[in-house]
Amino acid sequence: MSALVDIRNLSKIYHRGDQIIPVLTNISLVIAEGEFLALMGPSGSGKSTLLNMIAGIDRPSSGLLRVGGADIGELTETELAGWRAANIGFIFQFYNLMPVLTAYENVELPLLLTGLSKKERKEHVELVLNMVGLADRMEHYPAQLSGGQQQRVAIARAVVSDPLVIVADEPTGDLDRASAEDVLLLMEHLNEQLGKTIIMVTHDQRAAAKAHSIRHLDKGILNDADEVSAEMPALS
Ligand SMILES: Nc1ncnc2c1ncn2[C@@H]1O[C@H](COP(=O)(O)OP(=O)(O)OP(=O)(O)O)[C@@H](O)[C@H]1O
Ligand SMILES: [Mg+2]
Repeated sequence: MSALVDIRNLSKIYHRGDQIIPVLTNISLVIAEGEFLALMGPSGSGKSTLLNMIAGIDRPSSGLLRVGGADIGELTETELAGWRAANIGFIFQFYNLMPVLTAYENVELPLLLTGLSKKERKEHVELVLNMVGLADRMEHYPAQLSGGQQQRVAIARAVVSDPLVIVADEPTGDLDRASAEDVLLLMEHLNEQLGKTIIMVTHDQRAAAKAHSIRHLDKGILNDADEVSAEMPALS
C-alpha cells in the first residue's frame, strides 16, 4: 500500500494580537491508502485542526503536508477549493445538510461541480442513498429526518463523488447508541467494501474500535503509534 497522506514536521500556530498560540507541534504521520484511522485526544488538543488541514480547509504554518500527491501548503485558495471538491468527503458532527434541500438534492450537490449529466447524477445519488438505507426518504428535508438519518444522508453526500479520502469529525458525537452503531457500520462498509481511506476524529471508544489504528493527540503533540494510552478504558 502506498502513502496517501504524508505529513512531516507539521506545525500550526495561530496569532491572537501579539500572542502566538501553538496548536500543532512537529506532527509526522503517514496514512496508507485503504487505512481507517481514529484520532483521539482531549478537547482542544488539535484534532479538528489536524483533520481540517488534511482536508485542505486550513493550511500548515510550517512542515510538509501531501495528500494524494498534492502539496496542500503550495496550492492557492482557488486551487485548494477545487482540489477539496474532487478529493475529500467530509462528515461533520452536526451533519451540515442544507435545510432548504431534500435528502436527494443534498447528496446531488457535490456532483453539480462535476461534468456528469442529470441522468448520471441520478444513478449515483440513488445508489448511495440506497446504500445508506434511505431510498424511501429521498424527498424528505433534513428537518423531517432523525439525527441518525441526517448523518446517513451526510455519509451518502461524502461518498457520492468517490473521493480519495473521507474525513469525519466526531460523526457519532450527536447520536444515540443505536444510530451511532448504524453510522459506524456504514463507515466500516465504506472502508472494507469500497476500499475508502477514512480518518475519523472521535471521543467515542466504540467508534475508535472500528478503526484499524488509533493515534492520540495531546496539547498538539501526536503520540507514538503503539503507545497504549491511560485514557482508554476497556469496553464495558
Ligand atoms: N482560528 C483559530 N484561532 C485561534 N485559535 C484557534 C483557532 N482554531 C482553533 N484554535 C485553538 O486551537 C486549539 C485546538 O482546537 P481544535 O478545534 O483543533 O481542538 P479539538 O481537539 O478538535 O477539540 P474538541 O475535542 O473540543 O473538538 C484550541 O486551543 C483552539 O482554541
Ligand atoms: Mg474538534
